[in-house]
Amino acid sequence: MRHSIVIKDKKPIQEIKVIGFDVYKIREDFPILSTLVRGKPLIYLDNAATTHKPQIVIHNVSNFYATYNSNIHRGVHYLSEFATRKYEIARKTIRKFINAQYDEEIIFLRGATEAINLVAQTYGKKNFKEGDEIILTEMEHHSNIVPWQILAEEKNLKLRVLPIDDNGELIIDELQNLINSKTKLISVVHISNSLGTINPIEEIIRIAHSNNIPVLIDGAQSIQHLKIDVKKLDCEFFVFSGHKIYGPTGIGVLYGKKHLLESMPPYQGGGDMIKSVSFEKTIYNDLPYKFEAGTPNIVGAIGLAEAIKYFESVGIEYIMNYENQLLNYATEVLAEIKELKIIGTAKDKASVISFVLKDIHPHDIGTIVDMDGIAIRTGHHCTEPVMKHFGVPATSRASLCFYNTKEEIDQLANSLIKVIQMFS
Ligand SMILES: Cc1ncc(COP(=O)(O)O)c(C=O)c1O
Repeated sequence: MRHSIVIKDKKPIQEIKVIGFDVYKIREDFPILSTLVRGKPLIYLDNAATTHKPQIVIHNVSNFYATYNSNIHRGVHYLSEFATRKYEIARKTIRKFINAQYDEEIIFLRGATEAINLVAQTYGKKNFKEGDEIILTEMEHHSNIVPWQILAEEKNLKLRVLPIDDNGELIIDELQNLINSKTKLISVVHISNSLGTINPIEEIIRIAHSNNIPVLIDGAQSIQHLKIDVKKLDCEFFVFSGHKIYGPTGIGVLYGKKHLLESMPPYQGGGDMIKSVSFEKTIYNDLPYKFEAGTPNIVGAIGLAEAIKYFESVGIEYIMNYENQLLNYATEVLAEIKELKIIGTAKDKASVISFVLKDIHPHDIGTIVDMDGIAIRTGHHCTEPVMKHFGVPATSRASLCFYNTKEEIDQLANSLIKVIQMFS
């Protein structure tokens, strides 16, 4: 299902309703949502930066330390075996969630950033040679730009950039023009964190594959909003971070097709990624351990699996439907503020709304709405090329998820009106 922006002449949205989904009940699962900020109830609209954790995740994280804290894979004692089992079950949970074929295709890392760096420094280092080209897009997060720039500098590669239009949509017709015999990878964001655009990755993958080019999908903003099926997508790599899908920070996933991961050299050396070590020769471990050197984030993986189980128990169809209605409502309400301009008006959007308010600096906006207990993000959102495209130094961004409410959006609108009054 796709999200879409409201059309101006539709009658105003009166209510947000998804049968079988009760947002007020859902909110009870998230302890932080009953926090007071500056004496006001917290209104958290910064979910693209990180999401809050349901009680079940908090419980499972603390339960790990309270009852079976132990290092994994190396111990024969009870706790170590128990922790190892939980860690490997977590891998299976994630494998099923994104419909990967093999458990070994799920590599636990720190997050999307580390996963992209891993692919650049292993797959890229091994397979790309001087003069080769990588295609990125103008709307990438810095973490899908800089790792490739580092590699490009090391190996003398060329980065080519697929442009966006003024709605914040990729100009897909340009893709074929950027592809040539030197193109070795297309690395593209699924959902833009600063524009909310949902990119047509199926089409990009189809075009790439018809030219024998592998594709990396940055799913940092899509894993929590869309149904992901890596088998169906047929992408070579898919990366995401646990903290964006209601899991802990410091844990994330690299999915890669098994034959590619097998062909890639290790990223880091250390314990667990080896079968045997001598000063003469070291034999590396099999997947996935080859890429998980040292003590991993055991509790992070376990917490992430719990977050995914929770997410599935709410139901992706309900979540998508509710968030879509929330986006439409917020777009409609904010569009009524004539001083406000939404940056990112793609047809297919996730529940992320970037905006500018006359010439008021976004940091001022963020600081003033914070006085009302409202958390929004202001800045360039680690997408400086997007800011350059739209000729702004920064935007304010409200990013919504399934625990947000219509009333919270109304409060944001009221608070923004106050900001305008203060500056006029
Ligand atoms: C689109 C996108 N890609 C990558 C990242 C990096 O994620 P992390 O900092 O969790 O590694 C983010 C984080 O905001 C993002 O929004």
